[in-house]
Amino acid sequence: MPAIDPALIPNALRPIIDALCATSIDLSRVIARGPLAGKLGAGVGENSDGDQQKALDVMADEMFEAALRGTGVRYYASEEQEDVVTLDDDGGYALATDPLDGSSNIDVNVTIGTIFSIFEAADNGEASFLRKSSDQIAAGYIAYGPQTLLAMTFGDGTQLYVLDPERCEFVLVEARMTLPEAAKEFSINASNRRHWTPPILAYVEECERGRDGAKGKDMNFRWVGSLVAETHRILTRGGTFLYPADARPNYENGRLRMVYEVGPMAFLVEQAGGKATDGMDPILSLTAEALHERRPFVFGSAEEVERIAALHG
Ligand code: AHG
Ligand code: MN
Ligand code: MN
Repeated sequence: MPAIDPALIPNALRPIIDALCATSIDLSRVIARGPLAGKLGAGVGENSDGDQQKALDVMADEMFEAALRGTGVRYYASEEQEDVVTLDDDGGYALATDPLDGSSNIDVNVTIGTIFSIFEAADNGEASFLRKSSDQIAAGYIAYGPQTLLAMTFGDGTQLYVLDPERCEFVLVEARMTLPEAAKEFSINASNRRHWTPPILAYVEECERGRDGAKGKDMNFRWVGSLVAETHRILTRGGTFLYPADARPNYENGRLRMVYEVGPMAFLVEQAGGKATDGMDPILSLTAEALHERRPFVFGSAEEVERIAALHG
């Protein structure tokens, strides 16, 4: 079992974190075997948002749901399931997950991940998740890349663990991650440029002008296509990430889902000293109104996120 320092984890959440760790270790083995483990990237259906589900999306969802039974999770919500599932009537917690983030990267051996967010359970399933983002009591991601990493927060800093595959344990490597205040990199899917709003276009143009423009420094560009991988890079060396609203049909709130992508990443980023906004308001001040709702998402180095918010007026 994972060698996570018990002092860093609230006792009541320990069985949940243990189950998440054990499952992500199993999942990392499947991912490492790639095509030897089957057709992991094969299309198998559609989720409630109309995204194509890959075999690994469904497998990951089934693994986490099964592992979380009997751990204190009363309500389970997943990107891959339309409705909240009741796991245990006596549980005290509600856990939302993107069980497999970055599905388009499954077949190309690029980092993918799992995202989770934990609330105290409310009176019913949906109500447990449709609440202020700052009510989260824990959030985290697991990144399946050259290393399998776990970053998580309980509201007192963001902790980073690395899986030691030889011991099958997550080992603490940083008790408090600090996201650098200034950025040298920005991330946005530039193929959507013609659909952007004026503030987003203005920010990207500032980045592109680099030292010849208002920024007075050059900015490098990165886009992985896995939110977990971008978040990890930005937590480690700073930068900005933008998945804004744009003019495409269905993108009036961007692409990323509030409850199990935007909310937990915002919590982790702010606990590491970064900022997260939808352009107008801090993400942690927002309340989701639907389980699978989307939100424009901008996060990263404080200075840059403040600049993007200012451009939004
Ligand atoms: P998921 O695989 O869980 O559906 O999430 C994919 C998300 C996110 O990881 C990434 O940042 C973004 O979608 C990529 O979107 P584009 O394909 O529009 O670039
Ligand atoms: Mn995702
Ligand atoms: Mn997903």
